[in-house]
Amino acid sequence: MNLDTLKKTLLELKAKAITEFKSADSRSDIDDIYRSFLGKKGEVNLLLKSLGSFPQEKRKEAGMLLNELKSDLEEAYLQITVSLSSKANQERLSNEKIDTSLPGFQARKGSVHPVSKTIKEICDFFEKMGFDVESGPEAEIDYYNFEALNVPEDHPAKDMHDTFYLNNAGLLRTHTSPVQIRTMEKRDAPHRIICPGKVYRKDSDLTHTPMFHQIEGLVVEEGASFSQLKGLLNDFLEDFFGEKVELRFRPSYFPFTEPSAEADIRWNKNWLEVLGCGMVHPNVLKGVGVDTKIYSGFAFGLGVERMAMLKYDIPDLRAFFENDIRFLNQF
Ligand code: DAH
Repeated sequence: MNLDTLKKTLLELKAKAITEFKSADSRSDIDDIYRSFLGKKGEVNLLLKSLGSFPQEKRKEAGMLLNELKSDLEEAYLQITVSLSSKANQERLSNEKIDTSLPGFQARKGSVHPVSKTIKEICDFFEKMGFDVESGPEAEIDYYNFEALNVPEDHPAKDMHDTFYLNNAGLLRTHTSPVQIRTMEKRDAPHRIICPGKVYRKDSDLTHTPMFHQIEGLVVEEGASFSQLKGLLNDFLEDFFGEKVELRFRPSYFPFTEPSAEADIRWNKNWLEVLGCGMVHPNVLKGVGVDTKIYSGFAFGLGVERMAMLKYDIPDLRAFFENDIRFLNQF
C-alpha cells in the first residue's frame, strides 16, 4: 500500500463510520460501531498493523494520518452519544406530563375548642373593660384555695367543694378564686383582673365532670359597689349572648363575699343560674393587706362549659371532653 491509497482508504473509512454512527439509534448500537472501528480488532487497528509494510520514510506520515482518523472517529462517537442522550431526555420530558386539573389533597383545618373559644370571648370583653388576664397554679395549697378566702379549717363550706387532695398536703384547686389572693399579694390595689382556668372537683355525673373551667373576675377600687357589679355583669351577659338579657340577683352565700348573690338570667321563660358573685369580704381584703378604708371590691365566678352550653345550644356536657371531630369542627 502506498500513501495515496492509504489516504483514500482512510477517507472511505471515515465516511463509513460517520454514516453508521448517524444511523444508530441506541447506545449499544453506537458502542458496537465504535468497537468495529476503534476496538482492538477494529479496522483502525488493522490498518495500524499494516504500517510495517510502508517504507521507513513514509511510515511517520502514515501514522499521523491514522491518528488523525482515530481522533476524528472519537469525536464523532462523542457527539453522537451526547445527541442521543439529549434526544432521550427530551422524549422523556415530553411524555412526562403533569395533570394540573387533578384535585389535590385537601389539608384538614383544625378548629378552636368551644371551651377555648368561650374563654376567649369572655376575656376579650373584660379586657376591653380594662381587666388584666391573670392565672395561677392548678395544684394549690389549702391557704390559697380556702383559708385566705375566708374559709377556715372545719368550715362546712369546705365539704361542698369535694376536694381532690394530693399526697404532699396540696390539693387541686376547686375554683379559680385563689388567683384573687395570689394577684393581690403580688401587686397593690387597685385591681381589675379576669382569671380563666381549669378547676377540679370529685364529681362525675351527667352534669358534672371532675375537671371543668371557670373564670374569676375581681375588681378592687375606690368606691367599687354592688350596683357597679350588677351593671358590669349585665353588660357582659348582653355582649356574650348578643341580645338583651333579663338579669336577676338572688341572695346567696359564699365565704369570700358579703353580701353574696347568684345571678340568674331569663332563659326560655325560666330563671337560670349563670354565676356567683358578691362584694369581697373585708377579711379577704385585710388578709392581703388591702386598706378597706380606701378600697372595696367585688368579684364573680362563672363556669365556662355552662356558658358555652347555653350560647351554643350544646345539650350534653360530655361533648366537650369526647373530642369527637364532628362536634369540634362546628366551632
Ligand atoms: N368560687 C365560687 C365557686 O366555685 C364561685 C364564685 C362565687 C366566685 C362568688 C366568686 C364570687 O368570685 O364572688 O363556686
